[in-house]
Amino acid sequence: MDRRRLSARAHAHHPVAAPLSDTSVRRLLDRAVVRGDERALDLGCGEAEWLLRALERHPRMLAEGVDIDSETLDRVRDEAVRRGVADRLALHHMPAAEFTSARSFDIVLSVGATHAYGGLRQTLTAAQEHLAPGGRVLVGDAFWEREPHAAVRELLSGPSEWADLAGTVDLVTADGWTPVHAHTSTLDEWDDYEWSWTGSLAQWALDHPDHPEAQEALKVVEEHRAEWLRGYRGALGFVTLLLRRTAG
Ligand SMILES: C[S@@+](CC[C@H](N)C(=O)[O-])C[C@H]1O[C@@H](n2cnc3c(N)ncnc32)[C@H](O)[C@@H]1O
Repeated sequence: MDRRRLSARAHAHHPVAAPLSDTSVRRLLDRAVVRGDERALDLGCGEAEWLLRALERHPRMLAEGVDIDSETLDRVRDEAVRRGVADRLALHHMPAAEFTSARSFDIVLSVGATHAYGGLRQTLTAAQEHLAPGGRVLVGDAFWEREPHAAVRELLSGPSEWADLAGTVDLVTADGWTPVHAHTSTLDEWDDYEWSWTGSLAQWALDHPDHPEAQEALKVVEEHRAEWLRGYRGALGFVTLLLRRTAG
């Protein structure tokens, strides 16, 4: 099954594609948006829920989102119209690393999308290139709550090598950033995210038993649930950091 279609079905009932509750998303946005007339850029925006919420709440804000998934961006366009913010949202279908803009942004977001650049450090470097002086970066990435079993580490090892929380913050500060706020996802938020992910996909498969992808979807659910419950549950953390440049 196409990974993007699978992901859209799995994320259907969760506020964002990361282990963050509605309240956490709102609180982080409240901290990130200071004046209410900021220009925001989301690198790997997905369903662009962060931007849509910010635009709805702050009528003078402008936003741009970048993603490689054209079907998702089509849905975002419809949703932006439905929510009355389409005239203040620009969407770019391209790899985030290829996005350029003549103007800089007051807020640059990248939540659950650091793989677009090959890791957290590279994502921060890219974010800085788009950031206006005094601007803020909202970046969300995984970290290890505790040392995982070797098999789990191997299963989840991607382009980036995650550190523990302290190591993640060390990396960020050594790179010239100061956390001015952050949210560490709770186990409840992780559980809600994973139950929603597996549950939404399972529900879709059960609702479409004759669809050619239904059986495969149920198999993916079963595998994903086992990897989570028998593997990374409680070991994998997620932190969303609000950052400013330490100097300059
Ligand atoms: C886990 S989702 C997070 C979406 C969103 N940031 C959120 O918090 O809901 C990751 C997103 O990154 C996008 N993505 C992956 N690689 C990318 C790349 N190289 N350039 C732009 N977007 C990318 C995917 O299509 C997906 O929408």
